[in-house]
Order: sequence, then C-alpha cells, then structure tokens
Amino acid sequence: MAERNNLIQFLVLVWFSAALVHGMERHYKFNVVMKKTTRLCCSKSIVTVNGKFPGPTIYAREDDTVIVKVVNHVNYNITLHWHGVRQMRTGWADGPAYITQCPIQPGQAYTYNFTVTGQRGTLLWHAHILWLRATVYGAIVILPKPGVPYPFPHPHQEKLLIIGEWWKSDVEAVVNEALRSGLAPNVSDAHTINGRPGPVSSCNRRGFNLSVKKGKMYLLRFINAALNDEVFVRIAGHKFTVVEVDSSYVKPFETDTILISPGQTTGAILSADHPDPAGRYLITVSPFMDAPIDVDKVSATAVLKYSGASAAVATVTTAPPPINATWVSNGFINSLRSLNSAAYPAQVPLEIDHSLFFTAGLGFNPCPSCPRKNKIVAYMNNVTFLMPEIALLQAHYYKIKGVFTDDFPARPPNEYNYTGQQPANLHTMEGTRVYRLGYNSTVQIVLQDTAMIAPESHPVHLHGFDFFAVGRGLGNFDPVKDPKKFNLVDPVKRNTIGVPTGGWAAIRFRADNPGVWFMHCHLEVHTTWGLKMAFVVHNGKGPDQSLIPPPTDLPKC
Ligand code: C2O
Repeated sequence: MAERNNLIQFLVLVWFSAALVHGMERHYKFNVVMKKTTRLCCSKSIVTVNGKFPGPTIYAREDDTVIVKVVNHVNYNITLHWHGVRQMRTGWADGPAYITQCPIQPGQAYTYNFTVTGQRGTLLWHAHILWLRATVYGAIVILPKPGVPYPFPHPHQEKLLIIGEWWKSDVEAVVNEALRSGLAPNVSDAHTINGRPGPVSSCNRRGFNLSVKKGKMYLLRFINAALNDEVFVRIAGHKFTVVEVDSSYVKPFETDTILISPGQTTGAILSADHPDPAGRYLITVSPFMDAPIDVDKVSATAVLKYSGASAAVATVTTAPPPINATWVSNGFINSLRSLNSAAYPAQVPLEIDHSLFFTAGLGFNPCPSCPRKNKIVAYMNNVTFLMPEIALLQAHYYKIKGVFTDDFPARPPNEYNYTGQQPANLHTMEGTRVYRLGYNSTVQIVLQDTAMIAPESHPVHLHGFDFFAVGRGLGNFDPVKDPKKFNLVDPVKRNTIGVPTGGWAAIRFRADNPGVWFMHCHLEVHTTWGLKMAFVVHNGKGPDQSLIPPPTDLPKC
C-alpha cells in the first residue's frame, strides 16, 4: 500500500513538473466570418474572426501551447499568421500563404498548434494572404511564466491599443485595381484605434476611450496592425515609459512620442498622475512619412479620461509630430536598448557565418495588359519574388522539385550608389528564390534602401526569429567604417526593423529554427509588389533540431 502511495506520489510529481515545464494548453476557436459594419459612415461587409473587429485576443504565458482551430466560413482563401511567435520547429503553424502552407479554402478548417518559448510581451496575429489583414487582425499577449514578475513595477491594469487602417471601399477591390493598372493602390481613408477612427470629418463617430484611475499605473500594449503606414502615438499631458518591443524587454526610457511601424508592437507604462483628473486628454495616432510618397494623412484620435470625468470630448489637446518628423523617429529608435540583465541577457552573435547585403527598393517591369505598359514592382537584391503555387515549406519537406530555386543572391547583382544617381534600367529579375542557411549558423543582414523610383523606409519583418538591430545609418552602408559603430552589447531585439528612408539597417540572428522563413517589407503594398524572399534553414543533427512532421489537416493547394 505504502509502495502504491509512493508510486502515485511519484507519478503526480512527474506530471506536475512536466506541466510546469511545458506550460498550459490554451484552446481557441476562430471562425472566419463576414460581418456587416457601418463604421466611418459607410456600410460594408468585412472579413472578421468570430464577428469581432479587431479580432479576439490570444492570451498565453511563456511556455504555453496555443491551439487555434480556424474554420473558414467566407468566400476567400484564408491563412492566419502569429506575427513574431518564433514557431520553434513548427513552421507549419506560421501561416504565410504559399510560404509555409496552402490556404484554408472556403468551408475548410485548419488547426494551428504552437508553443510560445523565450518571449514575453505583446505580439499580433493577422491574416497572411492578399490584403485580408486589413480587417483580420488581433492581439497576442504573452505573460511571464507563473510566479515570474515583470522587470518593471506591476501595473494596475493592462490596456490594448491596436492601430489599423480603414478603406471605405472593399480592400480586395482596391488591391485588385492596383494590380490591373500597375499603379499604386489608393491610400486608406482613416487610421483606427481599436477599430475606431475617432471623430473624423463629416462622420462624427465615437472614438475609443482609455479610462484610467488617478494615481494608478497602466501597461499600454500598442500594436501597429496597419497595412502601409508607420505611425506616431501621443497622449496629451502624459509621457510613456517604454518597457518592451516585439515581445522582448527593453531598458525603460521616457518619451512623449512612440513610433510604431506596421508589424511592430510597443509595451509602455503610463502613470495616471495628471494634476487635473477632470481633463480629457487627446490621444493621436498620426502617420510618419519622410519621403515624397502619398499616405493617408488623417490622424486617428481617442481620449484618455480619468474615472469620474464626464463624456469623452478631449479638453486637453496635443499636436501630432509633423508627418515628416525624421528627428522624432530617430530619437525614439535610438533610445531602444535590450534590457540585457542577468535574467534576460542579450545573446548577440559575435562571429558571423553568413554576411549578407540586401538592397530593397522599387522598380518598373513590362506589363502588356497595363494601361502604361509597365507596372510598379519591388525587390530585394533586384529579385522580385514570385509567389509559388505550392507552399515552399511543403516543397522543402517533401523535396518537390521546380517550386523554388536556391540562388537568392547574397549581394545585389550590380553595385552602384544605391541612394544616389539610379541606373537607367529600372527592371528587376523575377523569381522564387531562397537563401539556404545551415542549422545554428549566424547571420548578419545589412538592409539597404535604394532611391530607385523614390527612397522610402521599409519595416522589414523576418518570420521564425527575433534578431538584434545592431546598427543603422543614412546613405550607403560603409562596410569598413560602419561595423565599427555596431552595438553588440545591448542592441534592441525585434522581429520587424525599420530600414530608414535613404539609409540602411543591420541585423544579426542565429539560424536555430529549421524550416522555411519568409522575410518581407511589412508595408503590404511593397509585399504585393514583390519586396520579399525566404530563407530555408536546414535541420540540425541533435534530437530537437528538426522541423516536426506536418499535421494531418495541413491544407492542400
Ligand atoms: Cu506580420 Cu509575414 O507578417
């Protein structure tokens, strides 16, 4: 009997410690459905998850397993991407259409199953096919492991502020028209905060209210889920203390303006300590664009109000930064540093196996069916990426020939003054090319903007990894002088990096995640034009160093 009790105790202990190591399972059901809405004076139907806009929030703790069953009830093919989740060995659950999976067709379902490891903070999920992410997006909140505190004072409450972009017309029609014409798509009609633009022109729509209690501290989780616009965020009469970006902690710093590019997130502490709690404080979300490119110039607004204060028309206002405020953007970016504490060390690769140099820009290619006989394209290293018809990950795993070639160049084919005088020929090569990386190899990529057609900033997102942003600068990257100025001690860790207009940014990461990983500009308009490529990371030899086999319900093309 005693032995049996011991055995039971032992089994309970094993089960309990296993549960602790592996975290909990979090189950979600995502029904993709159409929803009629009358936001911004126009009534239209949008694609949503569970009829919600923004969609439902995924909550997990570090080490939890997240299981999301997605059922497609709409007439579009769909995939969902868990932006920034590392997906260690689970590339099948990453989500970019035709990169890691074929789309979930109307009437079909697919279950995404992944574990959250080594990350804590704010991320987002969004549709990853065509322009459906315009309305199909939501937050991912990763809390620390049970019993592990934040490395900053515990907030009274947490609030999500999800920034989006809104078109009055049907978004798929907008992009299809652009593809037909070969020209740029229409810019959006409004920015939104938690799905609401705030009072805009003739439409006096109710904006979002951020309600706080005097004397309390709040953790604001900002997400830029917009398609094409980098934005500044301000709250009148208040400052932020930034503590986290892209699910990695940073050294806290104070700022009155936050810059967030599409795909990026920011966790910031707000102290509700204004001496006048009767005031209502304007929140502005305004575009940042320091190149001669047309963007939606309408700021979204919301109101911060203290409990007890009456209805929400702002009484204390703030002007957003000028649209071309490069200095504000630089000030914010230059303040970002990894926390790099004993508990959260910054493990920056110091020896580099693959030193890559990728240019990013726009070009023109022939288009017989277009009115001007040419179309705008975009490229990395002069390659405009063509979407395959079979997902790259399947082609890689099953060794299907003819889907991609593995000759994506490590350097641009022609060297020239990238930010100066452009070549006469603005044509690009087209292809589905990947770059291969050995397991655990270390990689540096210098991302160089070019002035082809126009210089422009590019928030470049890498799937499957967090990387360190070790350097950035204006003009052409200097391979001799610039690396000497790299921060290899406490550079910020992110998954989406802003390549400055007419400048460059350098990132480093370790290729410790086997699979196929997309890298692209997170401005959807640039992705559409072909500013994208993919890495194939090979399996390692160790027991936990291989891509897991595909789930049985993986959609077929
Ligand atoms: Cu948030 Cu490939 O995207």
